[in-house]
Amino acid sequence: MTPDRLIVRPGFALSGSLSPDGQFAIPGDKSISHRAALFAALAAGESRIENFLFSGVTQAMLNALTTLGIAWSVENGALMVHGRGFGGFKKRAPLIDCGNSATTLRLLAGALAACGTATTLDGSPGLRKRPMGRIVEPLRRMGISIQTQDGCAPLGLEGRQGGKRLTALEYILPVASAQVKSCLLLAGLAADGMTVLREPGPSRDHSERMLRAMGVEVENRSEAGPPAVYITRLVPPVGDLQPLHMKLPGDSSSAAFLVVAAVITPGSEITLRQVGLNPTRTGLLDALGQMGADIQIEAAGEQGGEPLGDLIVRSSPLHGVEISGDLVVRMIDEFPAFAVAAAYAQGETIVRDAQELRYKETDRIAALCHELRSLSVAAEETPDGFIVRGGKPLSGGQVGVYGDHRIAMALAVAGLAAQAPVEIPGAEIIHESFPQFVPILEFLGANVMS
Ligand code: S3P
Repeated sequence: MTPDRLIVRPGFALSGSLSPDGQFAIPGDKSISHRAALFAALAAGESRIENFLFSGVTQAMLNALTTLGIAWSVENGALMVHGRGFGGFKKRAPLIDCGNSATTLRLLAGALAACGTATTLDGSPGLRKRPMGRIVEPLRRMGISIQTQDGCAPLGLEGRQGGKRLTALEYILPVASAQVKSCLLLAGLAADGMTVLREPGPSRDHSERMLRAMGVEVENRSEAGPPAVYITRLVPPVGDLQPLHMKLPGDSSSAAFLVVAAVITPGSEITLRQVGLNPTRTGLLDALGQMGADIQIEAAGEQGGEPLGDLIVRSSPLHGVEISGDLVVRMIDEFPAFAVAAAYAQGETIVRDAQELRYKETDRIAALCHELRSLSVAAEETPDGFIVRGGKPLSGGQVGVYGDHRIAMALAVAGLAAQAPVEIPGAEIIHESFPQFVPILEFLGANVMS
């Protein structure tokens, strides 16, 4: 468990290597872990998932599977899921608490729609504020009856008679979202025809890669713009989904905090082995490269259908940069870490086209600007992004985390190179996605006190 208050003291360079063969490694990818557990539950037979991320949000998914009558276990650190085939979920289940996890809620909604299960999906007060109309509206078009609380959770799903197919969906997503896409692809498994989705940006494609590995016909292609369109098509399978036997890559979004930590902390050099390098997730590495960061990327092939490789990161001076368009989508979870890099970069950094950040665990545009200002950084909100004028020393002090695991980790990283310690109450939220964050920082040489 992460302690509920951290104090990060500046002035300690980071060094060392994180590798699956060593004492510490980058934990398994959160997005892929959610999918692996859920998709395996829909397959016929036993799946084995190595390097699964056991954390707050993935526990919500595993608990949901238990409620739905799916058995899972942990064997030598690997997650075993005893899938019961497509009709294997209970037809009627008690309320499912998705905790803080929007991925759990949105992906489950699609799977439950496909299986015809009647239940209620709910979550924490924070999750109840997240927009659910984006899945509810297209699911209703497919013939699912769902009640909402003004477009938010709790969502009441009505059951459906076994054997009745859903209406095939052709749909334009107003915003690029892998959660919405994945929800609709899951529902599309039980549709009476092809699902065709059009998105305005290249959202992560882990669901498509995994479904293909399970024998489903699903393809991605893009049409050049402007504006470019990203199209996903899925043909409902005739037989069962095949079980998964895979080892997950390290989570590039967790690695992001360590990458920024090493870049901004003078005298640092770290190696992160077997990190996911799916091109829909590597936007931060591109952005930091444009800022002048010294990051060596050594691709190391694929694991479980996902590209991965090693990162060697050295501290380096940064300069401001402008970020917009598809790059925003490819680094959508990395803006907390990126904003800290921008605070340490000389000159102006401008982020545009990023209004989606206002609908994450908190309004990340408002939260980041407010907390950076509290550390003496010139940071200003715009409707769809922010402007940071960086390169001046960061003062220390107490910050707020807004119940957001990524804001908490980003501010801890900011403290590594500030003028005085940064104190972070509410740090226990880090457990949601990266329980090993503090021990790993300490292993690399940081001075973190609880
Ligand atoms: C995720 C998709 C993204 C991301 C989230 C995980 C996923 O959300 O921010 O942390 O696993 O599909 P959106 O689909 O809302 O962009």
